[in-house]
Amino acid sequence: RDDAHDDDDDGLWTPGAARALARLESAFRVPKQKLHEIVKHFAKEMDRGLAAPNQTLKMIPSFVVNLPKGSETGTYLALDLGGSNFRVCEVTLEGAGSSGAVSNVRMRQRKYVVSDDLKTGRGTDLFDFFADCVREFLVENGIHATDPAHNELVLGFTFSFPCSQTAINKGALMHWTKGFTASGVEGQDPVQLLQDAFHRKQLRVRVASLVNDTVGTLVAHAYQDPSTHLGIILGTGTNAAYVERIDRIPKWDGPIPASGKMIVNTEWGAFDQEGVVLPLTSYDSVLDRQSAHPHLQTYEKMVSGLYLGEVMRLVLADLASTGELFRGVSSTVLTTPYSIDTALMSRIERDHSAELADVRVVLEDLISIPKTSAEDRRIVKRVAELIGTRSARLAAAGVAAIVSKINRLDDCTVAIDGSLFEHYPHYANRMRDALREIVGIAADNILLVQARDGSGQGAALIAALADA
Ligand code: GLC
Repeated sequence: RDDAHDDDDDGLWTPGAARALARLESAFRVPKQKLHEIVKHFAKEMDRGLAAPNQTLKMIPSFVVNLPKGSETGTYLALDLGGSNFRVCEVTLEGAGSSGAVSNVRMRQRKYVVSDDLKTGRGTDLFDFFADCVREFLVENGIHATDPAHNELVLGFTFSFPCSQTAINKGALMHWTKGFTASGVEGQDPVQLLQDAFHRKQLRVRVASLVNDTVGTLVAHAYQDPSTHLGIILGTGTNAAYVERIDRIPKWDGPIPASGKMIVNTEWGAFDQEGVVLPLTSYDSVLDRQSAHPHLQTYEKMVSGLYLGEVMRLVLADLASTGELFRGVSSTVLTTPYSIDTALMSRIERDHSAELADVRVVLEDLISIPKTSAEDRRIVKRVAELIGTRSARLAAAGVAAIVSKINRLDDCTVAIDGSLFEHYPHYANRMRDALREIVGIAADNILLVQARDGSGQGAALIAALADA
């Protein structure tokens, strides 16, 4: 039994519910034919992005031209700004990979929450906050960074936003994504901003690499498994990086690396901003219009964790307003944007009890719906399944497009990090189902593996490679 579809009990609905669900199903389903169209458009857009700057798919050369050998050693700092969290890590590379043994990484880390005020305030405050966190982390761990008698510390900076790079430690933020709007950062070099903040705080730390989280995830996983060719984030946002041949990047006019390769950050979250192929619903249009970045990140808005709960909220609010749910009764929570976290959707999908008791807790206690019927709860669960499945299938289309592009349908490890992939029920299985529909039996050669905490480790490794 495929438990991804275990509540697909057609025929057990009252006529009104059956009608509402039929409508939603046709809006949110991504049939096989559609997947193929998406993959085809993806391939075309990737080629465009590799040929010229400023295309929808930015296809950014990362300046990372080597995967680690596994023999790298040393201790580095890493700073990782993803979406919801900010982490400071100390990464110790223990090498050993070259002799065939698995290479080891030791890590000490601490997470900090980036408040909404920092995300949307002044850029200098945001970077001062980063420097303060680093100072705190160093003090806590007894690491010296102000004393001239000690060597300068070397740091890898994972900054997970679209940056056009001009060197391994130089770039410019093209535009914010994921709800960030901090002023004075767009168009600037995040490395410089961070370095300036370290100077203001008298920290002797040198920023040696600027790394996207997808690139970090790819590099960190390749440290252990050399067949890794893709790094993907399915979390607050979504994106992919992969290993490309330099002669297939016509827009590259820099020196040709000895490896003949370059890791490319696709920034696939922007895919199909023109709305050519993605099956957008009216809910997606409302979400886009009311978002911090209208017309941008169209694919990300259908796939990633920051947005899934909001799509769900819009659907439920709509069904409540038509009287198809909750006997037409809504709640203030349900009419408040971003009040449904994607983690709640996970919870709804995870409830397999006959009465959907936990779905009731979520709806009645957390979303403040006064009273739900058993059928209400089953509809809500089905809505979560539709939105969650659409996300996984669209993500699979992106993976298929890249793996086909680099001719790796016979053997490819895809390293995936992010809360959605890690915690959302059935997510990986749904991706695999869709991959099978797209590439057939070859899907079995594409290994989707969970790569936890890779982005920080990767930044440290890249700092090590850059520092060597
Ligand atoms: C957003 C960012 C991208 C990042 C992704 C995952 O799409 O633009 O750079 O990799 O989120 O964090």
